[in-house]
Amino acid sequence: MGIYAMTGGATGIGAEIKNQLRARGDTVIVADIKDADVIADLSTREGRQAAVAGILERAPEGLDGFVACAGVGPFVDPPVVARINYFGAVEVTEGLRAALERRRGAVVVISSNSAPMSPDPEYVDLLLAGDEAGACARVTGQNGQVAYSGSKAAVARWVRRNAPAWAASGVRINAVAPGLIKTPLSMGATSDPRFADAMKNFEATIPIGRAGQPADIAAPVLFLLGPAASFVCGSMIFIDGGHDASFRPDQF
Ligand SMILES: NC(=O)c1ccc[n+]([C@@H]2O[C@H](COP(=O)([O-])OP(=O)(O)OC[C@H]3O[C@@H](n4cnc5c(N)ncnc54)[C@H](O)[C@@H]3O)[C@@H](O)[C@H]2O)c1
Repeated sequence: MGIYAMTGGATGIGAEIKNQLRARGDTVIVADIKDADVIADLSTREGRQAAVAGILERAPEGLDGFVACAGVGPFVDPPVVARINYFGAVEVTEGLRAALERRRGAVVVISSNSAPMSPDPEYVDLLLAGDEAGACARVTGQNGQVAYSGSKAAVARWVRRNAPAWAASGVRINAVAPGLIKTPLSMGATSDPRFADAMKNFEATIPIGRAGQPADIAAPVLFLLGPAASFVCGSMIFIDGGHDASFRPDQF
């Protein structure tokens, strides 16, 4: 049985991943702001360090895999989106590298199919440069979608940039890009009268004819963590009912 760690296992997609791993007998160490083995607020550097320390303490033998799933949506204060979605994912993943190397583990980072629509390349560059203050300043007062899609573009590019070197030390890194999935994050918008109609219209354009469920993401994540994906490395897999293909048919 494997030993896995993840962030964002309390609700939504992360809870489904956690439940599926535990159901097949794996150990899963969850770091989250609530309902977790390690309570940590990933919006702060101290919280990220606490998440790494808490996970390492519980997995002295190393890790078979890690899922960076914690995230907040575009209706949260933009700098907080940058802090949790980018720095919360990247700093915790980096902090677990040695533990992952020990067991030749695999990493899956949860990006989004909004990543290719990120409109502010300078913000993405600041994130990738590790300039937290600069990135937060850049999105302060901006539309939340700018902060959100940019954070997801940056984590996807971080995966692409780092996958070769990590692979050379035995760790595969991949990303998944969910589309609209029914979770507390998206339901916050669909149940808000200000956004309900727009969300309904958006959902109606998903080629496959429905929004996704957490299990639609958990299954491919478990595949990417496991031996059947041993040659999959540095990939960004869109899991969105065909939405990205309909938006950008000629770009991949
Ligand atoms: N639901 C969607 O439509 C959708 C689409 C694309 C990508 N995603 C991504 O999927 C991931 C999971 O989101 P979800 O839809 O399951 O939403 P969710 O709100 O159910 O889950 C988010 C998780 O992150 C945790 N979290 C939030 N802030 C935190 C903080 N400061 N510190 C530590 N943990 C924190 C939450 O407690 C929760 O467990 C996110 O990264 C999200 O951006 C979701």
